[in-house]
Amino acid sequence: MSDTTLVILGATGDLTQRLLMPALYRLHRLGLTKDLRILGYAMENWSRERFENHIHKALKSFAPDYTEAQWKRFSKQLDYVGGQLEPDDLGKIKDKLTPSTLFYMALPPPLFGPASQALGEAGLATAPRGGWRRLVVEKPFGTDLASAKQLRAQMHTHWEENQILRIDHFLGKEATQNLMVFRFANRFLEPVWNAQHIAQVQITYAETLGVEKRAGYYDHAGALRDMLQNHLMQLFSLAAIEPLSCWDADVLRDHKVEVLRSVKPITARNVDKHAVRGQYRAGKAGRKKLAGYRSEPGIPKGSNTETFAALRLEIDNWRWQGVPFYLRSGKRLASNCSEIAVQFRDVPGPLPGGVKAENNWMVFRMKPEQGMDLIANAKLPGLELDGHQVTLSAPYVKAGENEFSAYEQLLMDAIEGDRSHFLRFDEVEWAWRLLEPVLKRWQKGAPDFYAAGSDGPSTQDRLLDPGQHWRPVAIADGDDA
Ligand code: BG6
Repeated sequence: MSDTTLVILGATGDLTQRLLMPALYRLHRLGLTKDLRILGYAMENWSRERFENHIHKALKSFAPDYTEAQWKRFSKQLDYVGGQLEPDDLGKIKDKLTPSTLFYMALPPPLFGPASQALGEAGLATAPRGGWRRLVVEKPFGTDLASAKQLRAQMHTHWEENQILRIDHFLGKEATQNLMVFRFANRFLEPVWNAQHIAQVQITYAETLGVEKRAGYYDHAGALRDMLQNHLMQLFSLAAIEPLSCWDADVLRDHKVEVLRSVKPITARNVDKHAVRGQYRAGKAGRKKLAGYRSEPGIPKGSNTETFAALRLEIDNWRWQGVPFYLRSGKRLASNCSEIAVQFRDVPGPLPGGVKAENNWMVFRMKPEQGMDLIANAKLPGLELDGHQVTLSAPYVKAGENEFSAYEQLLMDAIEGDRSHFLRFDEVEWAWRLLEPVLKRWQKGAPDFYAAGSDGPSTQDRLLDPGQHWRPVAIADGDDA
């Protein structure tokens, strides 16, 4: 860690103040980044003091564990240079860098390519002997397969693939990492983690938030690009991967790619059987009225951008033959409910006394609280021999308790050069490849509408096998808008 510099490009922006700085502050408080130099770089022609004041204010709002004493120590690590994303301007920071330097592009996506090129042209992509240079790029990586390939080519002019760290912040989340640990550290799970015992897997990421102040970005992206192509596709591949032969970033990524490559392709003809899109219209959360997407500030009146997307994927391999994986995510839904829910098949035989048994579910909860639930059947207490569902719950991290934002983990990994939680290009490529027919089909026509505050469009049901039901989005989580 000593002699490492983190350069944040876009240091006056939202991502820096809301997520990066609070995460760096927390790592500092834990004593993990004491020798790290943090150099902010942005277009604003600010002094170091002005930048420091800006970050000071941000931390007071966004770092729950803020203290003045800690800030005084942390602020000594900060520095700032103002300039354009041009080689001449960037060249000016050369003297401020240490042999090992991490560049973080906290920039709007259209700038990823030009900024990486300008860094290279300024001679900043090559490290002096004994050091390294790495480049972190935020999502989304491209907006479709062709643009992702183009962006990779542009970045590769000056940067090697192993210098590029593509972020998907879900990979830094505790619950995502727990999915891997729980799957592979428990002997009892592996024998039943297959098509013989599992009937379906539902991966849901539901948010009560609407488009907020992100109209400019979101109306071009939509739910499929914003959440499914990256975050949910990662959860999907981690739920389905084969056990690793050794713990190595490339072996892990090979295994994830193998899952993506094994998905039965969605074809132009069967898009509607595999994909559903929706857009919220006006609705309610409790007594609060919520505007429809097309009435949100900055959204064109006739926008057909989807604020909800659901997919049905099937994996063509021995382990998962015939098991549907459902992925869905939406804005302005009934609650903040995120989970990976695995439904087991029916028990095969008759039960004592005609007891009725529901299907078992194993649920990895991400929101509102992180935890795991095993939904099982047990005897209903009483004189009758009857059954009922019980939930064996293990809270994992309670809301507000020691919760990291994911960026702490990812920043530490980036500095230490651990690539396990970053995406290799082929993962991004295969995810885009899978979604190409859907993106194409959705260029035309309109999404199905759903009321803000609901569970999403009713048409999502058409993706399910007969007898299957979506798990409800509306849960008593107490934190709905
Ligand atoms: C982001 C999406 O990548 O992830 C947002 O752009 C979404 O639309 C967010 O709200 C969800 O992540 P988190 O960590 O806030 O649950």
